[in-house]
Amino acid sequence: MKSINIGIIGGGLMGREMASAFARWCALQDVTVRPVLAAVADLNPATLEWFDCIPSCTQRTTDYKELLANPAIDVVYVAVPHNLHEKLYCDVLNAGKDLFAEKPFGIDLPSAKRILDAVNASGRFVRCSSEMPFFPGAQRALAMARGGEFGRVLEVVSGFHHSSDLDPTKPANWKRNSATCGEGGVLCDLGMHACHIPLRLGWKPSRLFAQLQRGYSQRPDGKGGMAVCDTWDNALLHSWTTIAGEEVPLRMEMKRLAPGATNSWFLEILGTDGGVRFTTAEPKTLWVFERGKEQWWKRTELGFATPFKTITGGIFEPGFPDIIQQMWAAYLMEREGGLGARFGCVTPEEAVASHEIFAAALQSQATQSVVAVG
Ligand SMILES: NC(=O)c1ccc[n+]([C@@H]2O[C@H](COP(=O)([O-])OP(=O)(O)OC[C@H]3O[C@@H](n4cnc5c(N)ncnc54)[C@H](O)[C@@H]3O)[C@@H](O)[C@H]2O)c1
Repeated sequence: MKSINIGIIGGGLMGREMASAFARWCALQDVTVRPVLAAVADLNPATLEWFDCIPSCTQRTTDYKELLANPAIDVVYVAVPHNLHEKLYCDVLNAGKDLFAEKPFGIDLPSAKRILDAVNASGRFVRCSSEMPFFPGAQRALAMARGGEFGRVLEVVSGFHHSSDLDPTKPANWKRNSATCGEGGVLCDLGMHACHIPLRLGWKPSRLFAQLQRGYSQRPDGKGGMAVCDTWDNALLHSWTTIAGEEVPLRMEMKRLAPGATNSWFLEILGTDGGVRFTTAEPKTLWVFERGKEQWWKRTELGFATPFKTITGGIFEPGFPDIIQQMWAAYLMEREGGLGARFGCVTPEEAVASHEIFAAALQSQATQSVVAVG
């Protein structure tokens, strides 16, 4: 296997998750490349200490420019607050490295467009993180949609729910402040997850009406005081898209205040002849609708049918760390020109398209009207 040296900028929640996916790469069978975590940069020295457990990670620095100056690094993954995306992504490209970006790919639409311009000018290989479509159930739904198995599509629902903001004692962090998370709030935080598959299928909304709700206006700041929280926490986007020449309702849901939900990504496509439902709350279960003389919702246990084969037995159930690894396999194999017919990561153009949806949603909320997208 060819080794690809990876540098991570931002060793927080997602930086560590990615590092652990590389550490378990031996689980993958049909890949020709292997990521080697060689360097990590984070402002916080205590955060860097965790990376002591990865022997290959010999460069640990509080200055990301030192990581970018390391000639051994091939690919840089950046997982920092949204207000830093544009600067750091452009610095990675200017350093001549390939980039695996985090969503939302810039703090707002103008920022995402500037990043896209920088990507095109650099000629580097760039994709954006969105792992949920790599669940086998999501892949099956995608294949059914591409195969036209639903007849005339009647409606589509795509969303991501969690409930961690229901607890008012949870301390504030950068995701609860518009200056660092973005004016879009939950749209910037969870929106890409809801957009990835509809955009990949060519189901971009043409116009939408948005209902946005804020969460608690202040939270403990973790230092004995209170911090202002001003972001949108829940978003319902009621949109129209065009599928096979017909206008179809597409609802996108992104919620940080969804009672009972932990990290539930879901997709539902309903048509005249068939339908499909998948949620990561039931990670190996696929519901398929069939219409005959009678009508059925059939429940299937899919098991471990991931896009890239692994040593894991087919009857076992996949989880978040598995699909993070699948997403990295897709990124690295596409970079090598070996993705084939498999599903690829979010492209820079799709990331800009998602920001066009978020910008329209903010405008719709402000004007309480239906707004054209893009
Ligand atoms: N794909 C997913 O499922 C998923 C899930 C959560 C977060 N994210 C995204 O990942 C990104 C990071 O989110 P997170 O939850 O990991 O945040 P986090 O707060 O846990 O980690 C961010 C890290 O960046 C570091 N940092 C900040 N400024 C820096 C700088 N100038 N140089 C180096 N390090 C710096 C911080 O010290 C912190 O350790 C965001 O874009 C977020 O939207 C994606």
